[in-house]
Amino acid sequence: MTVDLSVDLCGVRLKTPVLAASGCFGFGREMAGWVDLAALGGIVTKSVSLEPRRGRPTPRTAETPSGMLNAIGLQNPGVEAFCAGDLRFLAEAGATVVASLVGRSPDEFGRLAARLDGEPGVALVEVNLSCPNVEHRGEVFATDPAAAAEVVRVVKRATSVPVLAKLTADVTDIVAVARAVVEAGADGLTLINTLLGMAVDTRTRRPRLAAVTGGLSGPAIRPVAVRCVWQVAQALPGVPIVGTGGVVTGDDAAELLLVGAAAVAVGTGNFINPRAVVEVAESLERYLAAAGAAAPADLPALFKAER
Ligand SMILES: Cc1cc2nc3c(=O)[nH]c(=O)nc-3n(C[C@H](O)[C@H](O)[C@H](O)COP(=O)(O)O)c2cc1C
Repeated sequence: MTVDLSVDLCGVRLKTPVLAASGCFGFGREMAGWVDLAALGGIVTKSVSLEPRRGRPTPRTAETPSGMLNAIGLQNPGVEAFCAGDLRFLAEAGATVVASLVGRSPDEFGRLAARLDGEPGVALVEVNLSCPNVEHRGEVFATDPAAAAEVVRVVKRATSVPVLAKLTADVTDIVAVARAVVEAGADGLTLINTLLGMAVDTRTRRPRLAAVTGGLSGPAIRPVAVRCVWQVAQALPGVPIVGTGGVVTGDDAAELLLVGAAAVAVGTGNFINPRAVVEVAESLERYLAAAGAAAPADLPALFKAER
């Protein structure tokens, strides 16, 4: 069985269905010594804001069973430095770039999207509506369908590239939020961001993160991501989904593709193995061949919904 790993994501052809998730691959520079950036499905950049952000105080990460907590707090150099430096570097390296945007208001998101419109190398934008590590919980737009939809509406007006809306699973009904952003014009969805968590050092009896709470990621959250992709794919068939959460192996990627994701993104897996994005794609190719699937898009038809 010959396998073609390339996929269509919102009209953009990706060489493989495996992307690097936002915030876990930097802006690609640190990883360029380990992987050919042009060979990846895509690189979702660290979320960029209008102004530079210094992030949250340290310690910002803590290891937990099967995952990690982080409260980086969206540290980034701001959109101007991003365009002049990191984005240029990624475009010259031939990477497929998904630019992740974060703002404090719909207007800020719109100004960011407008600033990036026409910048060479940006294939898609991802609207980060769901980072849990912010000081103001009002910035987690994806907990409110109307607020999330308003951001997407403004961004869609400001950009000519397809828009992915990144949602959180920290809600009662993720399908309601997904439906609202799709109706507002989102071309696709990224599911999921980290889940709000907390860990305490029982020796010092203090929180392990300086910000006290942080986002949980890694294999521990994969079942939540699989559930969200499955629920949303059932409710909104045909809407492209980038499954994100705990993908470390090709089998993990296959799990998300089977329940309806069009592509996957590897986040925490990059901290375990800097070649994770490449190796997940290689192993997924072997999985597809063994399953008799010619392409990643064939997997949902092979999913058996009944236990
Ligand atoms: C250290 C760290 C930083 C992150 N920064 C961002 C970010 O800037 N923007 C964003 O949308 N998601 C960010 N995320 C979330 C990831 O993109 C991803 O959605 C999440 O970690 C779940 O995937 P994983 O289990 O493969 O890590 C970050 C995650 C980690 C671990």
